[in-house]
Amino acid sequence: MLSPRIRSTFLDFFTSRGHRLVPSGSLLPPDPSLLVSNAGMNQFKPWFLGDVEPGFPRATSVQKCVRTVDIDNIGRTRRHSTFFEMLGNFSFGDYFKSETIAFAYELLTRHYDLSPDRLWITVYEDDDEAERMWRAVGVPSTRIQRLGAVDNFWSMGVPGPCGPCSDVTYDRGPSFGREGGPAVDSERYVELWSLVFMRSVRGETEPGGGFPVLGELPRTGIDTGLGLDRLAAVLQDVDSVVQTDLLRPTLATAEELAGRPYSPVDREDPDRVSFEVLTDHARAIAFLLADGIRPGKEGTEYVLRRLIRRALRHGRRLGIQGPILGPLTASVVTNLGPSWPELLHEAPLIEDLTTREEESFDRVLHRGTHLVNKAIRRALTTGTHQLPAKTVFTLYDSHGFPPDLTIEAAQEAGLTVDQTHLNTLLNPQPNRT
Ligand code: ALA
Repeated sequence: MLSPRIRSTFLDFFTSRGHRLVPSGSLLPPDPSLLVSNAGMNQFKPWFLGDVEPGFPRATSVQKCVRTVDIDNIGRTRRHSTFFEMLGNFSFGDYFKSETIAFAYELLTRHYDLSPDRLWITVYEDDDEAERMWRAVGVPSTRIQRLGAVDNFWSMGVPGPCGPCSDVTYDRGPSFGREGGPAVDSERYVELWSLVFMRSVRGETEPGGGFPVLGELPRTGIDTGLGLDRLAAVLQDVDSVVQTDLLRPTLATAEELAGRPYSPVDREDPDRVSFEVLTDHARAIAFLLADGIRPGKEGTEYVLRRLIRRALRHGRRLGIQGPILGPLTASVVTNLGPSWPELLHEAPLIEDLTTREEESFDRVLHRGTHLVNKAIRRALTTGTHQLPAKTVFTLYDSHGFPPDLTIEAAQEAGLTVDQTHLNTLLNPQPNRT
């Protein structure tokens, strides 16, 4: 099933069950707690908190999301993307757990025809109720696992709505990883859909990493997120998200530019990583630009600049000589423009801005790469397996070469960087007298 049908199947299922179809919010987040929109529920935060009266009791959407926490996973796993589309259904004081679980199970097994035998469920550690409800729809208890707050609790902002979640994962088979369910291997048992049972308000993170619950929400709520990339990879039976119809044309453009094919076989192959980073980042860059975000030095603008620079590094790493981001983002526009008209509308601007940013960074990249490689060679001869933080800092301070790119190059060569030392060099404390 191709992505346009995956989207429409989801939205038809929920609109025919009383959900209002709501357009995606912008990637420029509606809330200062975020640098960039990262979940379907972002635009509904005031509704969950009760700050604003919900306009209707049920909603469904396809939300554009960017998750920068996943940036280093691109190319390292088969399932992460910086930009992705989140399919969601929401309830504001209307239905709660049992209907949410029944909806998810019905949609996945009857409409997307996923085999029930491949589905594994995780529930929050104390959520007996959710486990009982999954068993009631037909999932055997042997395929339900309990996980803690790191995996099965969702919150947004402080103070913000929060609650335990229950995730549906899909067993991609032994070639993807170890037996034992999602508690053991999240590459093989890939998380498709997270169902959040919103009920409380969270407070500030405490030193140990936990946080207090400040109180209960005025009404319980449902917030779900089904990752389109991952569902497409499963339904199209492809190895990784870059091979789905959402990204394949952009990957093909990268192959054309590099003059050689992408090979998904060797997970350690640096070329494979570079192809995946380029493909992934080109999509994120096109969508961020289409939502009016510009490359810059801080906040959301820096997220975009960082993606552009990292993509360029991987493009040059693959030996691409000429323009990289212009052709790649053009293929994103052609492929996804029919579903996301803002891409078509902003196509000339996307091309112009990516070309300009690329030209201005190319010289720094060229010189910086040369110096980084030299420093790495030197560090390798010392036997410490460390690239000195001072070197990373000097490359940045004197040559403008971004620390994250130096660190990435060091890691590729098997070296580490003392991040704490680097932070003190990058952000010196003002002198106190
Ligand atoms: N808000 C939940 C998530 O993003 C659904 O995983």
